[in-house]
Amino acid sequence: MSKRYTITAALPYTNGPIHIGHLAGVYVPADIYARYKRLTGNDVAFICGSDEHGVPITIKAKKEGVSPQEIVDRYHKIIKDSFEDFGITFDNYSRTSAKIHHDTASEFFKTLYDKNEFVEEVSEQLYDAEANQFLADRFVIGTCPKCGNEESYGDQCEKCGTSHNAMDLINPKSAITGNVPTLKETKHWFLPLNKHEAFLREWILEGHKKDWKPNVYGQVKSWIDDGLRPRAVTRDLDWGIPVPVPGGEGKVLYVWFDAPIGYISSTKEWAAREGKDWEPYWKDKDTKLVHFIGKDNIVFHCIIFPAMLKAEGSYILPDNVPANEFLNLEGNKLSTSKNWAVWLPEYLQDFPDQQDVLRYALTANAPESKDNDFTWKDFQARNNNELVAIFGNFINRVVVLTNKYYQGVVPTPSDFSTIDKETLATVKAYPAVIESSIERYRFREAGQELMNLARLGNKYLADEEPWKLVKTDEARTKTIMYVALQIASALATLSEPFLPFTSAKLKTMLNTTTNAWTDIASKDVLLPAAHQIGKGELLFSKIEDDTIQKQLDKLEASKKANEAANKVVEPQKDEITFDDFTKLDIRVGTILEAHKMPKAKKLLVLKVDTGIDVRTIVSGIAESFTAEEVIGKKVTVLVNLAPRALRGVESQGMILMTENAAGKLVFVNPDDANVSNGLHIS
Ligand code: 2FM
Ligand code: ZN
Repeated sequence: MSKRYTITAALPYTNGPIHIGHLAGVYVPADIYARYKRLTGNDVAFICGSDEHGVPITIKAKKEGVSPQEIVDRYHKIIKDSFEDFGITFDNYSRTSAKIHHDTASEFFKTLYDKNEFVEEVSEQLYDAEANQFLADRFVIGTCPKCGNEESYGDQCEKCGTSHNAMDLINPKSAITGNVPTLKETKHWFLPLNKHEAFLREWILEGHKKDWKPNVYGQVKSWIDDGLRPRAVTRDLDWGIPVPVPGGEGKVLYVWFDAPIGYISSTKEWAAREGKDWEPYWKDKDTKLVHFIGKDNIVFHCIIFPAMLKAEGSYILPDNVPANEFLNLEGNKLSTSKNWAVWLPEYLQDFPDQQDVLRYALTANAPESKDNDFTWKDFQARNNNELVAIFGNFINRVVVLTNKYYQGVVPTPSDFSTIDKETLATVKAYPAVIESSIERYRFREAGQELMNLARLGNKYLADEEPWKLVKTDEARTKTIMYVALQIASALATLSEPFLPFTSAKLKTMLNTTTNAWTDIASKDVLLPAAHQIGKGELLFSKIEDDTIQKQLDKLEASKKANEAANKVVEPQKDEITFDDFTKLDIRVGTILEAHKMPKAKKLLVLKVDTGIDVRTIVSGIAESFTAEEVIGKKVTVLVNLAPRALRGVESQGMILMTENAAGKLVFVNPDDANVSNGLHIS
């Protein structure tokens, strides 16, 4: 039965491009769902847009010395274009700096204000006097009161996912100046979540215990069980939507107040363009509203936004919020700031026309019930062992043989064997199998079922061996090829939500666009005898090791760059006077003899000619130099250091060392200018 669906995908922050974590967590499953719902004849509004307010954007703008508008303009375009190129079929991709959004969010706020749904309160908030700014959200860093993470942001701890108020942080520090904040009074509007607790408890904890994913339900339950508190929905910032009520001058709406309203304004923008009415998509009780998000957004979509919608009074509530967990990359957390990511625009450049490969690998490995890891080796294996070897191989055999034996004309079958009948019946059952997984938001399972259909086709051909029978049994060969062509045709339709580019190519190859999703189960013939198919082309190609190595090298370069950037520089030691310095008697010496100190990994025992005398010096350089290679070297020696015994050998001075630009320990050699970085005493 046809139904109306409003499907939303989290509005991405506009301070960087999209990466595979966003795709696997939100956009690929949302797009599979939206495509599937359209294919099965529903009325779908698939909605998204750029989330352009919030502190991270201001911080990035400050860092680059440009305006926040410049930042969001840049990334809005990059994000929108890459979604399109990747085949994400939003019906509308808007942005929260659009006028329609400012108007919608302002109006929403005013409605709640007029209905007395806010609590107005003057309270002390964290303030950075040097920056002349209140410290909301990501402008403040401190220790998370829940898990002890010392790098928690003011609004949310990325380690444990807890969402809090900036004032909850232990040892808060300004992210702008590093200063310890002071307290300053300011007025804000709070949404009293406590007032909505009973409704939320009943609606989610009782109403959605069975159909919401356990990871989502569990997080919401723990929030509600902890007790809900009023939450500020305005901020003392200058980037955002102005607070549209008296006393709101100089303040803006909290980004998490305006962003989800972005789903509504984006729907309005779409409806206006399409000549439709937006309201049924948000207000008709028969509409199914589904939010696709990542796990860090759960509280906002399951508690705060529903409380806002409920308080407003005329909106429907989400039917489901199928949040995913996080995707890691090669064993480490994805990170924009550390450039530990596979960026979508780069992927599209490095793998042109291979959108479906990434889509498939991310679906097969989706972090649906726990965090998961993306590895380039797995990506390669999914392509080579599944897309090429199973799906591609089956289609290639069918199309090539049909062209070879029958000049591309679907042959007329004769009697079907039991195997043929069973195979055709199994094909008919596939839509229901895939649907059952999709309806439970199990997209990885659904994707594997699709691949099982291709497996079925491969096995059928391998068992029936038309390439052998063609010499002896023409009628049987025709029947086998006819059955195989029906499987190929079913794959062309059923693959659309998962492998949209492949599905389109396959439809062109089979010269068919007529079958709808529901036809697979209801029609006896998908590709009729005498139908002319097109020429074959490869659907997938093997990905070689060197292609994968290039991607791994890129990540390795990121790792190195990060290590270099994070290298701890030892703080400067206490100041010394010139007199202190002149006490050092430093001379050029030559190493005459050297041997390793027995049972000491680091020590060499040297005989050094200092120009005054020949003396013994024990030096901690054995991990960088062998005894043989230092003999004859000119070195710089501190000769008036009081002697001390090392492993029973008296050391009468010190060899001065430093590190070169590559971080290697080198002698401070009077003949060698290749030194940097400050002295080491060895
Ligand atoms: O976490 C994020 O990337 C947010 N920008 C998601 C916002 S979703 C919605 F509410 F708009
Ligand atoms: Zn925490």
